[in-house]
Amino acid sequence: MKTTTIDLKVKYFGTPVVLISSLNPDGTPNLAPMSSAWWLGDCCMLGLGNSSQTAENIRRTGECVLNLASAELVDVVDRLEG
Ligand SMILES: Cc1cc2nc3c(=O)[nH]c(=O)nc-3n(C[C@H](O)[C@H](O)[C@H](O)COP(=O)(O)O)c2cc1C
Repeated sequence: MKTTTIDLKVKYFGTPVVLISSLNPDGTPNLAPMSSAWWLGDCCMLGLGNSSQTAENIRRTGECVLNLASAELVDVVDRLEG
């Protein structure tokens, strides 16, 4: 069997998008789409850009909420772009 190595720029195809909410320093909510969230047992792994406001908020408050889209919202969430 012949194998071909493909050198992709990004070896990542994402997972279903969650909306991650956190609290800004001024008390307002921050909502960002996120595709790198997955669970191992009862632990959640987040692949989050270090310089995002969300990351800063989580470092400051130690908390966030992962919002899973309802069936009615899935189509809208799937159309979110960065
Ligand atoms: C569909 C989609 C998925 C995304 N997934 C991630 C992700 O997994 N990790 C991440 O760091 N940013 C992800 N982003 C980018 C963040 O949502 C984007 O950087 C956002 O502006 C961060 O907002 P903040 O600076 O208010 O936290 C994604 C964007 C889109 C549209």
